[in-house]
Amino acid sequence: MLPPQADEADEANEATMRDERPGAKNEDTTTRVELAAAPAAADGRRGAEPEAQTTVRCAFPEQAAATLRLPGNGNANAAPAVLPTQRFEDRGEIARGGMSSVRAVFDKVILREIAMKELAPERTIDELSRFIEEAQITGQLDHPNIVPVHDLEMDEQGLPTRFTMKLVRGQTLFRYLSDRENRELSSDELEELLRAFLKICDAIAFAHSRGVIHRDLKPSNIMIGTHGQVYVMDWGIALLRASRHQDTRPSESPPAEPPTVHRSPDTLPEAAGTLSGTPSYMAPEQAHARTDQIDERTDVYGLGGLLYSILTARAPHEGKDAHDDLRLARLGEVPPPGEVAPHRQLPPLLCRIAMKALSAEPAQRYASVDELKREVEHFLRGGGWFAQKRFEPGAVIVREGDDADAAYVVLEGQCELSRLVDGRRQFVRLLAPGDVFGETAIFGSSKRSATITAQSAVTTLVITRATLERELDRSLWLRAFVEAVAERFLELDRTLRRMTSAPPRES
Ligand SMILES: Nc1ncnc2c1ncn2[C@@H]1O[C@H](COP(=O)(O)OP(=O)(O)O)[C@@H](O)[C@H]1O
Ligand SMILES: [Mg+2]
Repeated sequence: MLPPQADEADEANEATMRDERPGAKNEDTTTRVELAAAPAAADGRRGAEPEAQTTVRCAFPEQAAATLRLPGNGNANAAPAVLPTQRFEDRGEIARGGMSSVRAVFDKVILREIAMKELAPERTIDELSRFIEEAQITGQLDHPNIVPVHDLEMDEQGLPTRFTMKLVRGQTLFRYLSDRENRELSSDELEELLRAFLKICDAIAFAHSRGVIHRDLKPSNIMIGTHGQVYVMDWGIALLRASRHQDTRPSESPPAEPPTVHRSPDTLPEAAGTLSGTPSYMAPEQAHARTDQIDERTDVYGLGGLLYSILTARAPHEGKDAHDDLRLARLGEVPPPGEVAPHRQLPPLLCRIAMKALSAEPAQRYASVDELKREVEHFLRGGGWFAQKRFEPGAVIVREGDDADAAYVVLEGQCELSRLVDGRRQFVRLLAPGDVFGETAIFGSSKRSATITAQSAVTTLVITRATLERELDRSLWLRAFVEAVAERFLELDRTLRRMTSAPPRES
């Protein structure tokens, strides 16, 4: 089922709000908008996260688009905050968003630099409650790829408006990708990013096992440490829910999972119909503010968005402005990676994985983060650079005499190899799954010396010189070995042709 049109959703949201809070629509105080900080490296360099990629939290989705264009009001040189005790010495602002700022501080007791996230003074009680929950959720998610929270600190009024955490020295994934957006990623860079992506998957799968949905996965909420450590940050709009696994267990059975994350009993629940997230990365159900439909697959969509941005350096929903991003997110329309990054050679398997995770309909996505992770691991084992091509029965896959530009591996179905001998087509042999043909095309340019026809429906891997190069980049020994075997093959082929004046081998 496709998500309803934007208007329909607006009506649904308005209805929800009317039901729950009559007349609330006219009260300014009921609209909450949270604009997140632009990312900055721990060294204080301010990032350039476009406004359209800032997190929004708003009870009225239709108002969100209008408020999205509020200036990010980030002033990295703002006066240092007055810290609650003499324990922390301010070392400057790292980043600032609409509702909070992150500062580096020196802890004079432990003698180390840490990070402190501080809620803006003009907060509402709702925002304070949400902030406490952010500290509690993040702090309870004890995982190597989730930034560790140290403590919640009281301000001068005795309100818990600051929490301390590990200071991550490094950069956001946003900056890493932006620095490389106009060029091809090297094989090493892509592999490094995918290994980071697997760690992000671990963190999110762990959070899911504790009943937490992140809801705001995007490159500026991921940090990569100077030694390759990966941290999922900003659990500011995380949603606490029982895991689906637990939901389906009979109540008398013993707990199959460790306890979920706890929240203070007085924490305010999110109002139904609240729009939370970042439009350019939002899943359709999130963009429609259908909180009841948000589950693990909403984060699968977010992870798909991260993979998409790794491939293309772009967000899945990039319209002309934030309003347009939200419209595209509601439709779940994502252009194919090759279309938005034509300057890059992209591995078809990874593009397929990202687009499946970014399916508009949750049921079409990977059912769990682990399933998505396994697919990316499969890519890392090799072969994902090769495109797959399907041929109908009777289709000519390669034609004798044509220029040879690719080799093929039969994955499914049967093909027939034939040659013209004295003007008559002669059957030579059948090719089955696992057979390779056209391999000479890779090692030296030549003409096809045989015709290959699909006997049944056939699926092949298509191996070009360029994609083989990318696969061989993974392994020095494999490259050396393949090149040596290829050289021998060409030598033998040349010798054979001289001796028999036969056409070059094709199969
Ligand atoms: N513990 C930290 N160490 C270093 N930098 C951090 C840390 N926490 C946040 N930041 C930086 O601050 C930015 C904003 O933090 P985040 O928690 O995402 O706040 P917001 O809720 O305003 O988006 C991040 O993108 C990152 O650049
Ligand atoms: Mg953030």
